Amino acid sequence: MSNGRFPIQTVNAISPVGLQRLDRDIFDLGTDIAEPRGILVRSADLHDRPVPQSLYAVARAGAGTNNIPVDKLAALGIPVFNTPGANANAVKELVIAGMLLAARSLYHAADYTRNLVAEQGLSGQALNEQVEAGKKQFAGFELPGKTLGVIGLGSIGVLVANAAQSLGMKVLGYDPAVTIKNAWQLSPNVEQVESVEELFARSELITLHVPLIDSTRGLVNTERIASMPRGAVVLNFARGGVVDETAVLQALDSGHLHAYVNDFPTEAGAVHSRVITLPHLGASTGEAEDNCAVMAVDQLQDFLLNGN
Ligand code: MLT
Repeated sequence: MSNGRFPIQTVNAISPVGLQRLDRDIFDLGTDIAEPRGILVRSADLHDRPVPQSLYAVARAGAGTNNIPVDKLAALGIPVFNTPGANANAVKELVIAGMLLAARSLYHAADYTRNLVAEQGLSGQALNEQVEAGKKQFAGFELPGKTLGVIGLGSIGVLVANAAQSLGMKVLGYDPAVTIKNAWQLSPNVEQVESVEELFARSELITLHVPLIDSTRGLVNTERIASMPRGAVVLNFARGGVVDETAVLQALDSGHLHAYVNDFPTEAGAVHSRVITLPHLGASTGEAEDNCAVMAVDQLQDFLLNGN
């Protein structure tokens, strides 16, 4: 492998049935490859694309499948594979980074200092005075002893729970979809709560690791935020629609929430002074991209060549 990245040649080499890589964001189905048997996609939205007659399978290099018309494909007998777990460590590390950024207001503090120099042109004594005067607003809190609520105990949620415990946090977990027994075996010190309401009411920080489906849309809403302790933090590395952003912004403005870390940018969130907005970076490490690509190709290859 050159430079540690997924070797594109290998994709072609293992694929006597027509897998190719297109070096563009959008797969222009039906013209770039006349008769694709398999499609491997990361973030391109396939919903409005015609389904090629030749297609046998689709693989998503990632956990979520919101960009793929899964039901339409299922009706045609075309399976969709995803890569659960392959990017879990990358997301976990970003969640931990997000908690630290939020707890110490690092993003906004750095912005403050940059502004003093770049926008206000301060230097020397004047800069030092403004630094001293301004730093009180960024006084933070420490993580040990704080309660983290993890919603969704799949591969990412369990890693986050374990990492948070190693930082001395108390971890509550809620996931109606996962076999509770499995989740609790993987993360034995997580306290299982009975309801999502209990988790909100007891958590000073909440992190989301559920897919966007009907039952999770708007899961973080006005009432649940209001039940959280004052000064709480919400981290969203799941999907934008899981959070009612208007409710979050109101709670930030009223001071009820301390910060919102969001991996799904919106205009309102990106300019809010208590929101840390990231450009969907959860899975963006070389290692995670390699893991996802390899797992997705393996699945496609297995299905197309061996029928598994
Ligand atoms: C996922 O669903 O795992 C992520 O959206 C992957 C990605 O960022 O491409």
